[in-house]
Amino acid sequence: MEAITNKKTPINYTIVKDLIAKSGIKNIGKASIRELVSLINDIERETGEKFIRMEMGVPGLPSPEIGINAEIAALQSGVASKYPMIDGVTHLKIEIARFVKNFLNITVNSKGCIPTVGSMQGGFAAFLMLTKLNPNKDTVLFIDPGFPVQKQQLDVLDKKYETFDVYKYRGEALKEKLESYLKKGTISTILYSNPNNPSWICFSEKELQIIGELATKYDVIVIEDMAYFAMDFRKDYSKPGQPPYQPTVANYTDNWILLISSSKAFSYAGQRVGMMVINDQLFKKSYPTLNEIYGNPLFGHNLIYKVLYALSSGVTHSAQYGLAAMLKAVNDGTFDFVSQVKVYGKRAHIMKKLFTENGFSIVYDKDEEKPLADGFYFTFSYKNMSGEELLEKLLYYGISAISLAITGSERTEGLRACVSQVDESQFADLENRLQQFNSDYS
Ligand SMILES: Cc1ncc(COP(=O)(O)O)c(C=O)c1O
Repeated sequence: MEAITNKKTPINYTIVKDLIAKSGIKNIGKASIRELVSLINDIERETGEKFIRMEMGVPGLPSPEIGINAEIAALQSGVASKYPMIDGVTHLKIEIARFVKNFLNITVNSKGCIPTVGSMQGGFAAFLMLTKLNPNKDTVLFIDPGFPVQKQQLDVLDKKYETFDVYKYRGEALKEKLESYLKKGTISTILYSNPNNPSWICFSEKELQIIGELATKYDVIVIEDMAYFAMDFRKDYSKPGQPPYQPTVANYTDNWILLISSSKAFSYAGQRVGMMVINDQLFKKSYPTLNEIYGNPLFGHNLIYKVLYALSSGVTHSAQYGLAAMLKAVNDGTFDFVSQVKVYGKRAHIMKKLFTENGFSIVYDKDEEKPLADGFYFTFSYKNMSGEELLEKLLYYGISAISLAITGSERTEGLRACVSQVDESQFADLENRLQQFNSDYS
């Protein structure tokens, strides 16, 4: 590290060093995403230089006008003064069920299609329910790497979780690994995101089948977090009612809850409206433990009238109208939401190339035998540098990312890059900075 102090780094070395010291972050490699965001804002302000910002997974595209206009019309018609139904406005519920049929080829009753305040709230509500169903099953299992805030939710709830990094357990190997946790009898829930944040791996049909069949065998509920719905651009999932469909565990078990976020697929993060979809059998299922706690044994009833009522009493009325309008257009085939976000894949393709041409490697690089898709995130490492070291060193070169170490990944040499905030006009800067980094450290 000291060697480069004498060299000119793209961002003023002394300022970066001072601001890291002043930030109070003890270990950059363990910093939370929001801590890094604030540090990089400070560096940009002080130096007047623009970073290649890859640390935060925020949508980089405008929200569709269909949604915005429907919200305006709903507000003008007076919905703001009225409490929304906790389980969602009827026409939104119907559109969610249509969406699930059109893009997953899964039939679900609209009763189990519930808007939530982002998938974030859907996950929180699901954890609150699923850890109460059986006193022996008190632990959530994460198939990692994953989204750190979901573990934070369990910490806040004071609930237990276990995790493993799926990197070495792809394909058939997943079965034995997963079963080694499930056979202990303490797991209530399995959670993973697909496509995966942070690694962008996508489970194959075989892997989803393994997860689904084991969930049935061990009576465990799967929370399938589809924050990046249809964004595996290797296949075209954009046509309503036509194959190929977005792969889902729902084809292999009845024990599922789907979280479908509107934040990335519909660039609607600011409105905090997501979809929670519950399998019909699970929705209707009776649990003696729920009867003891809430005086009613039914899963769906308690989720809506106990948990979601207590958390936020529903979702902002106008946001539900916005989402309903977008879904209706998508279901009717008049709005292609996938083509809007394909630009992320194109960006990732170019950026991955710039990294690999300059001495970097892609960490999670395959789905079983297939090369990984280009999408919202990718993971990278540099020679034998640790992730912590790499994250810090890249700051002097005006490049920011997050460490895989905070995502439950064992690949601690790796960083996660998010492509959404990087504009094409910055590719030349990115290339120059990576070239200089490589020549300084090779
Ligand atoms: C895997 C994963 N799950 C859930 C979320 C949260 O989604 P929402 O904005 O709908 O709350 C995110 C957002 O980055 C995510 O990456």
